[in-house]
Amino acid sequence: MTQYDVVVIGAGAAGLHCAATAAARGRSVLVLDHAKQAGKKILISGGGRCNFTNMYTSPENFISANPHFCKSALSRYTQWDFIALVERHGIAYHEKTLGQLFCNESAKDIVAMLMNECSKYGARVQLRTSVTGISSVATGYKIETDQGDISAEKLVVACGGLSMPKLGATPLGYQLAEQFGHRVLPVRAGLVPFTLHDADKERYAELSGLAVDSVASNQRASFKEAMLFTHRGLSGPSVLQISSYWLPGEPVQMDLLPGTDLFAELTTLRQQRPRSLLRTVLQQWLPKRLVQAFSDQYQWPDHNLADCSNALLQQVASTINNWTIRPNGTEGYRTAEVTLGGVDTDEVSSKTMQSKLQPGLYFIGEVLDVTGWLGGYNFQWAWSSAYAAGQDA
Ligand code: FDA
Repeated sequence: MTQYDVVVIGAGAAGLHCAATAAARGRSVLVLDHAKQAGKKILISGGGRCNFTNMYTSPENFISANPHFCKSALSRYTQWDFIALVERHGIAYHEKTLGQLFCNESAKDIVAMLMNECSKYGARVQLRTSVTGISSVATGYKIETDQGDISAEKLVVACGGLSMPKLGATPLGYQLAEQFGHRVLPVRAGLVPFTLHDADKERYAELSGLAVDSVASNQRASFKEAMLFTHRGLSGPSVLQISSYWLPGEPVQMDLLPGTDLFAELTTLRQQRPRSLLRTVLQQWLPKRLVQAFSDQYQWPDHNLADCSNALLQQVASTINNWTIRPNGTEGYRTAEVTLGGVDTDEVSSKTMQSKLQPGLYFIGEVLDVTGWLGGYNFQWAWSSAYAAGQDA
């Protein structure tokens, strides 16, 4: 049986970074993955350019049953540490918006960097290997695979969540957690587009491809970013963000004219340009197709402003400044960027990511109940949690 100090399951963002970190300390490390390629999610992330971190990362950008859990790891391996690594590898990058850092060239550069770090310190990455069983033994762990058995003193679970099964996502991480007595908090798709009820879907289908500024809000959170109509429902950054705070059946409020008090604007215009048509005036702020769709749906008359009552202008303004939509659901794990919920952090050390129940067992990355906002935060959590485990395992 081959023997290693540390075996990491999952050659994704967290697994590769952890392997290199542990190997740099002189540990013998093996990374196992069933996929043909390492870091598949990294490769397709950020439209192929990988939004690898966010300059403004802070614990407030993460969702978890224990909001304090992520603090220690994030502070001990920060966005600046990862940026320094990217710079050492000569990877050119830029800020796109809101502190989001992307590669200038390709996400392949990030995977190559992680693989180079692994090989520099001698961590082995073994792909196309299925884990068939894991048991705790006197010397640590026995890992049974379709390529033979392996023994390890420490075992790091870095197999991610359930999002995008076509990229190799499986529930193995949650199953291993449960096998060793860990609680797994209910999981659901996050950073995911909304689907709409049939009537709304039909109504807004013709708006597919249209993007507008918005503030998406509910009782728990609020995000000012673009919203996109799709042929299935609603997407775009503001919708993806609020989806992580949404529960089935709830409405979502969309301000489609952020920062503009539309009622005040319309009443002023009614005095200045009484002969202007309401629909024409609205096109000053919103795309014609959207004005048309809303006018039809809410039966706004095609009147001159002079003939519009305060009540009508109030209704128009509140529809646009506070459009309430009740999603039918989400597109689910097929298109979700992340999985909310996961291994309960109460049973894991926030300093080392080691299990409090099972010595020598670690959980890092998305398998844990720590989920970042859209914008590079999820990768930063992968790097930070990986570093914490890599320093300890
Ligand atoms: P990750 O999913 O990266 O890796 C898990 C690994 O475990 C995979 O290699 C998988 O094959 C392997 N595995 C799973 N089951 C296994 C089994 N049974 N046996 C063996 N191996 C197994 N985040 C961000 O910050 N910026 C961004 O730009 C994006 N963009 C983005 C786009 C898309 C389309 C998606 C789906 C996601 C993103 N994300 C993102 C989120 C980000 O990709 C995600 O949070 C991290 O990859 C999580 O890192 P992990 O290492 O925890 O899991």
